[in-house]
Amino acid sequence: TGVAVIVVAAGSGQRLGHGIPKARVLCGGLTLLEHSLRAVVASKVAEHVVVVLPAHDDVLPDVVARVAADGPGTPRILTVTGGATRTSSVSAGLRALPDSIGTVLVHDAARALTPPGVFARVAAAVSTDAGAVIPVLPVADTIKMIEGDLVTRTPDRAALRAVQTPQGFDAVALIDAHASTAAGGPAITDDAMLMEALGIPVHVVDGDPLAFKVTTPLDLVIAEAVLARAGA
Ligand code: C5P
Repeated sequence: TGVAVIVVAAGSGQRLGHGIPKARVLCGGLTLLEHSLRAVVASKVAEHVVVVLPAHDDVLPDVVARVAADGPGTPRILTVTGGATRTSSVSAGLRALPDSIGTVLVHDAARALTPPGVFARVAAAVSTDAGAVIPVLPVADTIKMIEGDLVTRTPDRAALRAVQTPQGFDAVALIDAHASTAAGGPAITDDAMLMEALGIPVHVVDGDPLAFKVTTPLDLVIAEAVLARAGA
């Protein structure tokens, strides 16, 4: 069965503070979305790509069209409009998937420098472990639970992982998980949370430091420096 990648790029980019959707922000002369899409194509894992865009954007559809026109070896790339939350944007992408898709990888466009090998690692793990697979890294900082300005607990750092994308799933399981999402509860910040809520085992594989999410102005400085070094 086929593999699809959903790239969610419908966020506003408020924390980056450029006043345009984050996927449009330039880094090393290319939009963050173009970097992400080129990594998806280079990974060769997908026969279908669905890009979830902000409504009424006049730049990003052209970015997608340019990547889609790259010639042989380029997967089929569709665009759909996203929603107010990341979860609703992923749901919009899932609705655009053809029935032939057995495995779906969900990826944040903001993780613009994700190496192609991460997509391959996640896709391979989904095909052997089935269910759900997420790329993770150890955490460098000590992480504390708080209430107000008081610390309530310090989880054992050795048991904590920072979670990245692409996250890979059995397509039917992820569609079911999105359909059964209850309102209320904590903010849903990734797709694996929805699988966990249904009791579906979520496996981890190694992430990559380069798969960091460009979120703040400092992240963009780091991404520019990485690209400048790679181009030197
Ligand atoms: O906001 P956050 O950093 O969690 O966003 C992660 C990814 O989800 C980004 O690539 C962003 O474009 C996407 N997103 C989306 N639709 C939203 C919010 C975020 O596609 N409503």
